Amino acid sequence: MARIAIVGPGAIGGIMAAWLGRSGEHEVFVCSRRPLGEFKVETPDEVIVARPKILTSPDEAPAVDWVLVATKAYNAEATALWLRPLTAKGAPIAVLQNGVEHRERFAPYLPLERIAPVLVYCPAERPEPTRMLQRRAARLVFPDNPIGRGFGGLFSGTRVKIDYAADITTALWEKLVLNSGGALTAVLLQPNGIFWDERLCEVARDIMRECIAVGRAEGAVLDDAMTERCIEIYRKEPRDGLNSLHADRLAGRPMEVDARNGAIVRLGRKHGIPTPANRMAVMILDILSEKGSEATQPAK
Ligand SMILES: NC(=O)c1ccc[n+]([C@@H]2O[C@H](COP(=O)([O-])OP(=O)(O)OC[C@H]3O[C@@H](n4cnc5c(N)ncnc54)[C@H](OP(=O)(O)O)[C@@H]3O)[C@@H](O)[C@H]2O)c1
Repeated sequence: MARIAIVGPGAIGGIMAAWLGRSGEHEVFVCSRRPLGEFKVETPDEVIVARPKILTSPDEAPAVDWVLVATKAYNAEATALWLRPLTAKGAPIAVLQNGVEHRERFAPYLPLERIAPVLVYCPAERPEPTRMLQRRAARLVFPDNPIGRGFGGLFSGTRVKIDYAADITTALWEKLVLNSGGALTAVLLQPNGIFWDERLCEVARDIMRECIAVGRAEGAVLDDAMTERCIEIYRKEPRDGLNSLHADRLAGRPMEVDARNGAIVRLGRKHGIPTPANRMAVMILDILSEKGSEATQPAK
């Protein structure tokens, strides 16, 4: 039996806690900022009622074997308070977040070789604090190394599909290229349908081309045709679909802009690559989130 802690009882954390606890093979702890009861997780296949052990203070956290971090990227500093006790006996952490800086985010707290970046493909929401909706089949991509394989093995027997990437850097940047273009929907407060407007696709292509250039400088293998593949992916989604930046902006929640388009700007600067389209998107979203709810009405 493995002892597993999940930091962050949100949509992704709750779903992973439910799948990992379902067989009863593992002891699952969920680290939360507040007390919570049992989770009701609605997956495409079944409803799982999960009863993980809820911890509400790092002071009560035991040393465990594996830690999954499922907070938002901007919560890294507060998340790290949990890591010292949880990893006291050398446990590795898997960072289930968007962006490309998973290791850098937690490098101040843990040796790099114990941090596994994870790609999360699992459209999910949390309409209530203990009710999670998993919209489609879940897939996690771990680095193809002993730690990644160890984490992946915890999910055996569940319906979470596990893949291993020999080149996790490229895999992370591929997802960021796709996500980078999605910032446009949050700027415009218009759903996915904008990707049928050729003029807006041109703007999205500019954003994605900058991401490709910076990703290549960071060592990712990305081809130019990615921009068209991403537009195709967006066009396969429902026209009224919202990505997480857009949904967060609408709900007045903080957005993970810095971990996404902000990372492109930051790393572009490091490599001397201009990123004006991403910079504009970041600045607009930053200004709008400072303005708060008054800015969540579409421009007339
Ligand atoms: N949801 C998706 O469809 C999806 C898909 C792919 C990737 N992702 C990525 O997965 C990551 C997690 O996303 P999510 O949708 O699960 O976010 P979420 O629903 O907002 O969950 C984040 C959770 O972190 C908790 N948290 C924040 N600071 C904490 C702390 N110091 N200690 C303990 N818990 C803390 C929050 O607590 P409270 O409950 O107190 O607010 C919340 O429960 C993000 O990087 C996201 O981009 C999400």
